[in-house]
Amino acid sequence: MGLVIALNKGRILKECLPILASCGVEPVEHPSESRKLIFDSRCGQHRLIVTRSADVLTYVEQGVADVGITGKDTILEYGAGMSFYERLDLKIGLCRMMTAAPVGFAAPTGVLRVASKFVNIARSHYHSQGCQVELIKLTGAMEIAPVLGLADCIVDIVDTGNTLRANGLEAMDVICDISTRVIVNRASMKTKFADVQTLVQQLAAVVG
Ligand code: PRP
Repeated sequence: MGLVIALNKGRILKECLPILASCGVEPVEHPSESRKLIFDSRCGQHRLIVTRSADVLTYVEQGVADVGITGKDTILEYGAGMSFYERLDLKIGLCRMMTAAPVGFAAPTGVLRVASKFVNIARSHYHSQGCQVELIKLTGAMEIAPVLGLADCIVDIVDTGNTLRANGLEAMDVICDISTRVIVNRASMKTKFADVQTLVQQLAAVVG
């Protein structure tokens, strides 16, 4: 029957393609050299779809894709209340969700203004600290928000820390560690158990 596998475009896609190839799952064309978004696998058994991070969750929850590969940040931010199994940590795309602020920042006495693409993660972090915040939703380039006075601080993914440094910010609290995860549709887990299990085991063997 084969599997439909939804992949997160961008950095995760680049890193997970060689891992999938080691498991015998290779798209007939390289996604970065094509405008196509649906690819048959060379083995003829599976199909790969390439989509935005949050949509990976939607495709898997709705059963359009059997398996999805996306970041833990996406699962935490958009996956609350969604139904799927998280089956494997691919141990790639390693980074941290952090708070960051301008170097020398002193927290205001009143409400803290926090800019982020990850407003749900930010809300739950600050609530757990008993800190009152105003959340400002951005879709990227969060680092400039404190520089331009839109926010006091940000919640964002930090990898090397270069983006923070280049914009005069410093990392503060670690909210959680992030890595790339394999998720599985609940029905596919039963109806395509053998295929799902084979793929998950192969991926686990590759990533160790
Ligand atoms: C992420 C994140 C930071 C940067 C951190 O952005 O939002 O801007 O990477 O990496 P660093 O610590 O190595 O500098 P990404 O490049 O994924 O772009 P996006 O947020 O616009 O999707």
